[in-house]
Amino acid sequence: MKQLKLGMLALCMAAAGAANAVSLTIDAAKSGPVIDKNIYGQFAEHLGTGVYEGMWVGPESKIPNTKGWRNDVVGALKKMHVPLVRWPGGCFADEYHWKDGIGPRSKRPVKVNTNWGGVEESNAVGTHEFFDLIDLLGADAYVNGNLGSGSVQEMSEWIEYMTSDSKSTLANLRRKNGHDKPFKVAYFAVGNEAWGCGGNMTPEHYADLYKNVETFLKAPATSRPKLIASGGNDNDSRWSEVLAKQLKRQADAISFHYYTIPTGQWKVKGAATGFAENEWISTLSNTLRMDSHIRDNAAAMDKSDPEKKLGLFIDEWGTWYDVEKGTNAGFLFQQNTLRDAVVAALNFNIFHEHADRVRMTNIAQMVNVLQSMIITDKDRMFVTPTYHAFEMYVPFQGATSLPVTLADNPQYTLGSVSVPEVSASAARGKDGKLYLALVNTDPGKAAEVAVNVAGQAVKGAQGRVLTASAMDAHNTFQWPQAVKPVPFGATAANGKLNLTIPAKSVVVVEVE
Ligand code: AHR
Repeated sequence: MKQLKLGMLALCMAAAGAANAVSLTIDAAKSGPVIDKNIYGQFAEHLGTGVYEGMWVGPESKIPNTKGWRNDVVGALKKMHVPLVRWPGGCFADEYHWKDGIGPRSKRPVKVNTNWGGVEESNAVGTHEFFDLIDLLGADAYVNGNLGSGSVQEMSEWIEYMTSDSKSTLANLRRKNGHDKPFKVAYFAVGNEAWGCGGNMTPEHYADLYKNVETFLKAPATSRPKLIASGGNDNDSRWSEVLAKQLKRQADAISFHYYTIPTGQWKVKGAATGFAENEWISTLSNTLRMDSHIRDNAAAMDKSDPEKKLGLFIDEWGTWYDVEKGTNAGFLFQQNTLRDAVVAALNFNIFHEHADRVRMTNIAQMVNVLQSMIITDKDRMFVTPTYHAFEMYVPFQGATSLPVTLADNPQYTLGSVSVPEVSASAARGKDGKLYLALVNTDPGKAAEVAVNVAGQAVKGAQGRVLTASAMDAHNTFQWPQAVKPVPFGATAANGKLNLTIPAKSVVVVEVE
């Protein structure tokens, strides 16, 4: 009943027009670049309960599963159309030795996950299990190789094991382990964060190592993975500049990582819940820096790759808060609130705008870690507000971006921090329909938006809104549906479409 009232409220609010509206124009005749579906990619690292427990429980578990992967979690992930999964790390990737993760599980070596909590790593999830997940999700595989503590030979043999259709010893070993046909490795990265946990290197040193590795990564021409060079972070666009110059002919993309921290300080990052408005606005302001980071890195790459052959893949992004009290600090577990959904939507709108260069992103991480889609505890699970933002934006996967102009868009200000009140993105979906996404960053005030589609009479807009009364509204095992999208729509009057976007909300509509 409460949900119904909220839905009706959204409908009424959407129908009301108002003075001082933000003016939004969609130029539906001018197509921009296609929004690669992989912009909605995910990241699953062997970290905390992100893979083990959260997704993988093993075939013998009482929790219903398919080949060891939880049916409830996989079912929910399928509904949000996960296009791509990056695995096995992160920092973990540069300590992962793939041969530990093949063959009978009972015989696999137990290692210590030195990056994440010093816990035992059973290697129960290895190459074959990862591809089982990929098959269950119907997603593409992004495998991250070990440059930091591995060898050129180890990486080249992994590629051969996964992709060769020959009768080589390694290809036959894959068959013996249960997979006759080669796996489809869509993307392969050479190391991770080589500037830090991946080896503390300079970009010049990394570029030389990359070239050496790339020379020996031999996959059949028809199934060669796209290769990703591990790039920089928000402190430094020099990585993008050096790698674009040196690796243009040997890489398909350069990666880049940027995390949103409310305080901007790694030592005390800010809490996931129970925060004050100053940390609402600082989080949004910090996340909007993604735009300038992309611009800086794209400009650095343009110097030697103006034709944009190389992609800039943001293969780690999202919010990073102080861990929840009483949890293992190495597990990076945090709650996920309406603020996270707004962060996700703001980033989607930025990624769409840079779709010519940004052709993949991977939010960190899929389950139970950082800005997750799903939170589990034993046999229970719930989906987060971030999950809803992802599933609301599904029509943008593979859509063609359209230019959007915002005029009279006021700033939402608190103290010395200001962010634009409204963020928007539009695209022509693969189904031919016109989709519009809107975010109202102000937690205290609805935003009036007058929508025009150049050269087209608009009849109305129908879709959904995600909002709640509290800035830190979130789902729990007790209230798993406290935050979820409800219907939202409006009919144009006298050829004009006015939308009232509720305070602190994300809206996705089809414009008719
Ligand atoms: O996502 C958590 C960690 O953040 C990753 O392992 C690492 O690449 C980054 O520093």
